[in-house]
Amino acid sequence: MADSFDVIVIGGGPGGYIAAIRAAQLGLKTACIDDWSRAGGKPAPGGTCTNVGCIPSKALLQSSEHYDHAGHAFADHGIEVKGLNLNLAKMLARKDKVVAQNNDGILYLFKKNKVTFFHGLGAFKSRSDDAWTIRVSGAGAESVDVSGRHVIVATGSRPRALPQVAVDNRLVLDNEGALAIPAVPKRLGVVGAGVIGLELGSVWRRLGAAVTLLEAVPVFLGAADEAVAKEGLRAFTKQGLAIHLGVTITDVKLGKSDVTVVYTDASGTGQRATFDRLIVSIGRVPHTEGLDGNAVGLAFDERGFIVVDDDCKTNLPNVWAIGDVVRGPMLAHRAEEEGVAVAERIAGQHGHVDFNTVPWVIYTAPEIAWVGKNEQQLKAEGVAYRAGTFPFNANGRARALGDTGGFVKILADEKTDRILGMHVIGPMASELIAEGVVAMEFGAASEDLARICHAHPSLAEATKEAALAVDGRARNL
Ligand code: FAD
Ligand code: NAI
Repeated sequence: MADSFDVIVIGGGPGGYIAAIRAAQLGLKTACIDDWSRAGGKPAPGGTCTNVGCIPSKALLQSSEHYDHAGHAFADHGIEVKGLNLNLAKMLARKDKVVAQNNDGILYLFKKNKVTFFHGLGAFKSRSDDAWTIRVSGAGAESVDVSGRHVIVATGSRPRALPQVAVDNRLVLDNEGALAIPAVPKRLGVVGAGVIGLELGSVWRRLGAAVTLLEAVPVFLGAADEAVAKEGLRAFTKQGLAIHLGVTITDVKLGKSDVTVVYTDASGTGQRATFDRLIVSIGRVPHTEGLDGNAVGLAFDERGFIVVDDDCKTNLPNVWAIGDVVRGPMLAHRAEEEGVAVAERIAGQHGHVDFNTVPWVIYTAPEIAWVGKNEQQLKAEGVAYRAGTFPFNANGRARALGDTGGFVKILADEKTDRILGMHVIGPMASELIAEGVVAMEFGAASEDLARICHAHPSLAEATKEAALAVDGRARNL
């Protein structure tokens, strides 16, 4: 037996590494096991988020937006760019560098907080004397057994594949391949117009690809507020994303250097479309391969998620599970908050995650963000509410930026005025939404936001104006 710990965290994504750091901060002897490797075999903690998710996608979104602005938007500002060139290899290398900085940052944080890191695959072996034995193997190292009083499983998720075709990351790409296409494809197909489809479809469109999104559901962005989804569909279509809703894919045929998707469109008419590359982004499934949960009786639901209660306790004593591998939105910040809450519960504190105030962000241009309930949900629940909307085209800062599409919408309870939801589509929606999250966490009324002094000129003034609009007193509309 190599060592024994108070807490062993299996998985070093945002859920796992943050749980490990918090547990160590609370004085618990903590280990974190993660199997992700970078080229050359060095450990790459940070999980999907750091390696093939949030971080690299945001790096490419930023780079491609700069390119798009230089090619199109700068001229409006009187900046004339001649001889604009795309160096895709450099752009991809920068993205890889950003990822590596984050990997190294996590290894540094482990050291700083005295978390013992094991590079390899963690698997349940047995339980005796109130402790779990976990075997760490792979990643070139000899296997080693470690024991822990508590185990936090944070093994994350992996992409769901189409039944008709396997991902080869050459012609048919998952998120990993979609973040590393070596040359801009002329014709790029994307199956699934969800968050990944829109973000990565936007990246490659900005870099010059003709992008077609094939979405099964007839409604665009069904989880968003209807008005936001409508505005998003209008904006993305205008930019050149061809979005086809209500399609059913019946076959995918691989050519030598292209891929043909056979499908029926929303009217039931048979169609086929040929692409140079096809991104498959149709959701993600829990990742539990190699964990050997079955060997110790860990309970899974019918979709393969580890079953947990509201406190993230599994059916096994002192075994917890957090993040993408359990129910709930597959978001890095949700995984992190659950990790902190579980570490605090293990230490005898009262960790808490409020699922009602988990923000959603789609990092397209315009950005889309929301927190709380949308109008269609409130209507379905029979909740009486008032809505206030303020468009960015009436906001001075947005005009100065030259980014005036979209709006802020605030929904408040008709009687109590308590804020029930905030929805933003437009510039910096990802940052603006934080005010709504704070307001909802503090149980604020729309009147509270309306009376708070906001800096001028700022995009946040649109939030204040939307709050004023709930009561029909917007001043710049
Ligand atoms: P993961 O990040 O998946 O980490 C799990 C880790 O555990 C991995 O390193 C895995 O290799 C390791 N592991 C698995 N099994 C074992 C084992 N048996 N032993 C050892 N290690 C193991 N979310 C956002 O909030 N914002 C975004 O902008 C965003 N963008 C995204 C973009 C893309 C393209 C994708 C794919 C996802 C994005 N997400 C985003 C979602 C986000 O990445 C996930 O919600 C988040 O990573 C989940 O964290 P986690 O810790 O639960 O799991
Ligand atoms: P998603 O759930 O956002 O979208 C998948 C889309 O594919 C849905 O619209 C679905 O209707 C469609 N679909 C499913 N099967 C299909 C089929 N056979 N044919 C055509 N369309 C089909 O999932 P996505 O985009 O794969 O992302 C996975 C998860 O990763 C997201 O749900 C989100 O939790 C997380 N993520 C978060 C980001 C963020 O926070 N900005 C960015 C990217 C991903």
